Amino acid sequence: MSLEEQFTVFPTMETKRLLLRPMVAEDAEAHFSFFPDPVLQQGIRGGFIPQSVEQTRGIIEKFSQAYSQRASLAWGIALKENNQIIGGIDLTNFVNRKMADLGFYLARRCWNQGYMTEAVSQIVRFSFERAELNRLQATVAIENIASIRVLQKTGFTQEGLLREYAMGSEFGDVYLFSILRREYRSGS
Ligand SMILES: CC(C)(COP(=O)(O)OP(=O)(O)OC[C@H]1O[C@@H](n2cnc3c(N)ncnc32)[C@H](O)[C@@H]1OP(=O)(O)O)[C@@H](O)C(=O)NCCC(=O)NCCS
Repeated sequence: MSLEEQFTVFPTMETKRLLLRPMVAEDAEAHFSFFPDPVLQQGIRGGFIPQSVEQTRGIIEKFSQAYSQRASLAWGIALKENNQIIGGIDLTNFVNRKMADLGFYLARRCWNQGYMTEAVSQIVRFSFERAELNRLQATVAIENIASIRVLQKTGFTQEGLLREYAMGSEFGDVYLFSILRREYRSGS
């Protein structure tokens, strides 16, 4: 399989407790509900933060357009038990169809239960086994301990420190993490 094949039928996936699926307009309310949280906003600074359910609907529509244009893959993270959206995870900025940036966020009420580790592990597997990527990378603010832990637990290596990296209108130091296909294969 290749990355291109993932743009014919959306790659919905299951993990033990989660469903990684496309977001639809009906998810807008649930998706918006966790954004007004300042602690979550601090984690995703630089990313777009919706201010209303209506704006969230617009974001969901953009995810869908980007998928149609084969530009990015954005999954809603839903609990299997009720199909309710509790977060999102995406692959963007494909380079030569072999490299991508990983981004993720989760409603605060669901933190520290291993959900994001479960979702990222599945996206790593997908990236190398189904999309045939060679490298996944993620930038994370140096004070974002939870994200750093998630990346460490899922096999990413810290490559470097990017100083005063632009995050929206702010600057801040970030770590660059990556995982390579050969590392995933070797199970390291
Ligand atoms: C980052 C985020 C997705 C993590 O999701 P999660 O489901 O809570 O992650 P997990 O439960 O799988 O793992 C979190 C790990 O961080 C650890 N952790 C969390 N806060 C911590 C802290 N203040 N100090 C030390 N460890 C901490 C947890 O103990 C856990 O590690 P462990 O399993 O070794 O105990 C969530 O915190 C979030 O959405 N943050 C805001 C958005 C964000 O930062 N996105 C990423 C941008 S790069």
